[in-house]
Amino acid sequence: MGVELAYTDAVARATDDLYAKVANFIPKAEWLIHAPVIAEINRLKREKNAVVLAHNYMTPEIFHCVGDFVGDSLALAREAARTDASVIVQAGVHFMAETSKILSPDKTVLIPSMAAGCSLASSITGADVRLLKAKYPGLPVVTYVNTSAEVKAESDICCTSGNAVAVVETIARDFGVDTVIMIPDKYLARNVAAQTGVKVITWEGACEVHERFTAQEIRDYRAAHPGIVVLAHPECPPEVVAEADFAGSTAAMIGYVGTHKPQRVVMITECSMSDNVAVENPQTEFIRPCNLCPHMKRITLDGILHALRTMTHEVVVDAAIAARAKAPIDRMLAVKV
Ligand code: 13P
Ligand code: SF4
Repeated sequence: MGVELAYTDAVARATDDLYAKVANFIPKAEWLIHAPVIAEINRLKREKNAVVLAHNYMTPEIFHCVGDFVGDSLALAREAARTDASVIVQAGVHFMAETSKILSPDKTVLIPSMAAGCSLASSITGADVRLLKAKYPGLPVVTYVNTSAEVKAESDICCTSGNAVAVVETIARDFGVDTVIMIPDKYLARNVAAQTGVKVITWEGACEVHERFTAQEIRDYRAAHPGIVVLAHPECPPEVVAEADFAGSTAAMIGYVGTHKPQRVVMITECSMSDNVAVENPQTEFIRPCNLCPHMKRITLDGILHALRTMTHEVVVDAAIAARAKAPIDRMLAVKV
């Protein structure tokens, strides 16, 4: 689709500042293809009063050049609730776009690819949650945001990897219980249980990207690169998290690099993270394991341009489900982290 757009002087003027930021990471030949698309996306955003909410796993040309707000799931949800733009383009996966729509029902929420799913979201249905609640009456249901709106609608509170510990402690205290139902990520649930002392009943869901990392892989990185700092996402299996120096959400990992400025780091998470964080942190050498999220990678610059030109694909959530799903999201957003 970018083919009819040319790299003109006007495009160069509109994008030179952006290129200065990413020049060490995007070869010039590639930039000449990206730049006209970036310029047109940024023009259309102004024309349509649209914002692009870009997840940390977006490729650098999206993350650094068209994202108005970038961050982890929690930050993007907070931004969706407060933006006064008329249109939100979700540069992320479908559950993130649904969350934006639930929090901003009067806005048009677009996602560049309806196929951008998530192995966690597809692992559980609303009917599954109803069965769990019937099996464990009285226990609160803590639902990871990586789920569909109908699963959220059955829940007491949502969480992200950025606030899961605080959410579980808060809801266990509010319900006066020592056990919660935490769905659908079995690894996140176990990692949070280890940090809180709250017991968890969980579900057999896992992230297809993070479940592939192994503890041996981390030991191998340490042997090959003495002194390396290992950061892991809490969707990794507990034995992987146990080998890491720090575990946290994508935003928490970025914060760690910015604050501690390690000489050498490996981020045990999706590939694009290291690319994006390296742009802002030239002092740090990044060793880059590359586990791609195929869902996140369905979001492309051309897809974002198409979404803005044609105002597709509009994300719609049934009003009754949205109303029920909003309560656990709002409850989560009220928890201080
Ligand atoms: P974060 O909330 O940490 O950004 O994670 C979202 C996600 O999908 C990680 O795989
Ligand atoms: Fe889902 Fe994993 Fe992809 Fe995140 S990285 S969107 S959890 S499949």
